[in-house]
Amino acid sequence: SQNIYILGIESSCDDTAAAVLHNGKILSNIVATQEVHKQYGGVVPELASRAHQQNIVPVIHQALASANIGKKDVSAIAFTRGPGLMGSLLVGTSFAKSLSLGLGIPLIEVNHMQAHILAHFIEENGFKKPEFPFLALTISGGHTQIVKVSSYFEMEVIGETTDDAVGEAFDKSAKILGLPYPGGPLIDKYSKEGNHKAFPFPNPKVSDLNFSFSGFKTSVLYFVQKQTKENPDFVAENLKDICASIQFSIVRILMDKLKKAVKQTGINQIAIAGGVSANSGIRNALMDAEKKYGWNCFIPKFEYTTDNAAMIAIAGHYKYLEKDFSDYSITAQARYNF
Ligand code: KG4
Ligand code: ZN
Repeated sequence: SQNIYILGIESSCDDTAAAVLHNGKILSNIVATQEVHKQYGGVVPELASRAHQQNIVPVIHQALASANIGKKDVSAIAFTRGPGLMGSLLVGTSFAKSLSLGLGIPLIEVNHMQAHILAHFIEENGFKKPEFPFLALTISGGHTQIVKVSSYFEMEVIGETTDDAVGEAFDKSAKILGLPYPGGPLIDKYSKEGNHKAFPFPNPKVSDLNFSFSGFKTSVLYFVQKQTKENPDFVAENLKDICASIQFSIVRILMDKLKKAVKQTGINQIAIAGGVSANSGIRNALMDAEKKYGWNCFIPKFEYTTDNAAMIAIAGHYKYLEKDFSDYSITAQARYNF
């Protein structure tokens, strides 16, 4: 049998990551998170690309070392071509090209959004893999999509956000409440002790399977401004209830569109991906849907939901099997549809 070692490199946003897979199983999965953005309340692109420059060599060294393999054992280099921040993508793309050229091994370009979905196919004990066709809900700080997945690389976006991503809706709402960045996990935490019916927020009206979260954020802002005018301590006194209400509304928006997508496609296999899939509200809603509607839901291991290179490597693994290699004229793409 074949021994395939894929080195995956991810640098599309603010995490520099490298991972090694052996025949689809994780040998190492290293992420250097950039703390520098915290003080700005969001990712600063210029600082992100500089940090990637600093981190990329140590991160790859560490990935190879903890996989206990040498550079010469690697079968191919898989890297994120896009979508993402151009300056960040350029670091990983240029490095991957050079390393592939230097080692004389194939180069494989990976679409970051496809990789989020393919993370479900990393060999992992105790985690079942979805069967084709299935629907993927990709929810993170940069993305919100419903994707119909017919095979490893046959994917069709059937719904997406027309403005902010769902993670931004969490983070921007949190910011309005005075919580630090990223506020999504904090909203989740406070929600657990709050009353989600306390402050109803409207469902934005968006056609088809698309989403819009900028209006949602604005309705949170107006609500908080109005209440604070009447009672300056409103947020402090009601934080848990406000958080629970925000989370409940966001989860309802996601679930409404998923239900619509299931009805339209007749597919009730649902896989979630992206950092927001850590959210307890969406997880509970999906588990309820399994009981209530007979859906089959797939929630990956947490470390494969946020940005990571293991997902890039697994996408690279399946492309390697098909000998789908890239040539050296390839360039990074900030906007990269599939
Ligand atoms: O996938 P990710 O790590 O990075 C990208 O945006 O690509 O996702 C980060 C996003 C942030 O917006 C963060 O607030 C959100 O995921 N997030 C959560 C939770 N954990 C992370 N949002 C709500 N509830 C959570 N438990
Ligand atoms: Zn991502």
